[in-house]
Amino acid sequence: MDKFIINGPTPLNGDISISGSKNAALPILTACLAFPGIYTLKNVPDLRDTRTMLRLLEIIGCKISKETESIVIDSINCNNPEAPYELVKTMRASFYVLGPLLSRFNYAKVSLPGGCAWGPRPIDYHLTAFEELGANIDLDSGYIITEGSLSSAKIRFPKPSVGATGNVIMACSSLEEEVTIENAAMEPEISDLCHFLSKAGVSFDGIDTSTLKIKGIKHKNPINLSYTVIPDRIEAGTFLIAGAMNGGRLRLNNVNANHLENVIDNLIKSGSKIELLENSIIIDSDKNITPVDLSTDVYPGYPTDLQAQWIALMCIANGKSVIKDTVYLDRFTHVPELIRLGAKIRMDKNIAIIEGVKQLKSAKVMSTDIRASASLIIAAMNSEGQTYLSRIYHIDRGYEKIEEKLNNVGASVKRINE
Ligand code: EPZ
Repeated sequence: MDKFIINGPTPLNGDISISGSKNAALPILTACLAFPGIYTLKNVPDLRDTRTMLRLLEIIGCKISKETESIVIDSINCNNPEAPYELVKTMRASFYVLGPLLSRFNYAKVSLPGGCAWGPRPIDYHLTAFEELGANIDLDSGYIITEGSLSSAKIRFPKPSVGATGNVIMACSSLEEEVTIENAAMEPEISDLCHFLSKAGVSFDGIDTSTLKIKGIKHKNPINLSYTVIPDRIEAGTFLIAGAMNGGRLRLNNVNANHLENVIDNLIKSGSKIELLENSIIIDSDKNITPVDLSTDVYPGYPTDLQAQWIALMCIANGKSVIKDTVYLDRFTHVPELIRLGAKIRMDKNIAIIEGVKQLKSAKVMSTDIRASASLIIAAMNSEGQTYLSRIYHIDRGYEKIEEKLNNVGASVKRINE
């Protein structure tokens, strides 16, 4: 099992190029199933999760070819609208295939996704919406079986859900009647999925808003389209917080600062200096961190995927801070590991109360999920001594070449296989 050995403390100075967005690439990859066609995708990050998704597309019948700068998906001869347990249990986003398969085949058989490190991740919003669109839903030995031709409906989610919004959008790809989604997720990754499907002829009204109208299209022949995935705002936010915590001057390139407004505002409040350029963000930090309380929220609020990283930063702030996660109430498996590094954190349900300390100290710590791992890397780079971080397969799911990117700006992160 791979581990990281991280020596600290190390300031971070230099340039990091941000990869394509994992959480935009995953739904866009499944959307290539909606219409038979040849899809050339650029800026798809090479991650454990995108490789899992490509394997799933091949099982469904796609032909995948990798070029230097792009991935080509040929979905013309897909003939197996099923997603097996063995794959879905490793990655919840596999559940995204349900919508496009239902749209194209009026049938889909997808294994129920497992939970994840921090608890249950329900799919009731997805299934209720599919029923409202006219599909029949059956549960048979751990598989969801949906079938039926869809018709217009007005869907209203109890609260915004990225996955459910994406799944319903894709289910409506070839439904030529208008469907309205109220309380739609407004994450940039959902907007990217809409822009991708617009190129395939699907009409949208209300992209970037919480009320989305969709009108699908029926294609007689296979389509051909190229698309470039947006930059990964969560990877970028992770490196910004790493720069704030470790001190120095970092310049992130190939990034869209508009997707990070809330994060940048909080970083400035915590004492970092931020400069915005065309497709770059520069962060300057003297490690003099002002405590900043925050609550995560759906977009455009502060993202839950950067909650763990923010808690790491607050571990060395000059005072007390209170961080609340309103999206996932139990997403705090990183807290006991940060405490092993010397952090002073007390939990009260979904609220972390942090007393900043002068210096963290190295220890043996363990990754538990993608973003928890990122928070431990950020904290370990700032801890005195040599930290061992185990189970780093979690980090490989969501961050492309992370040790290479960090070592290029002065970190000391070594991957070993023990
Ligand atoms: C997406 O997950 C992201 N994953 C997650 O990122 C991210 O944390 C999450 O959105 C929230 O922003 C991908 O995009 C692949 P949700 P998703 O449906 O779609 C509840 C990462 O680290 N809910 O928006 O599964 C749910 O319990 C990953 O990259 C229901 O109750 O999240 C949660 O409280 C981790 N019923 C809230 O909604 C449902 O049917 C938001 O979940 C669906 C969701």
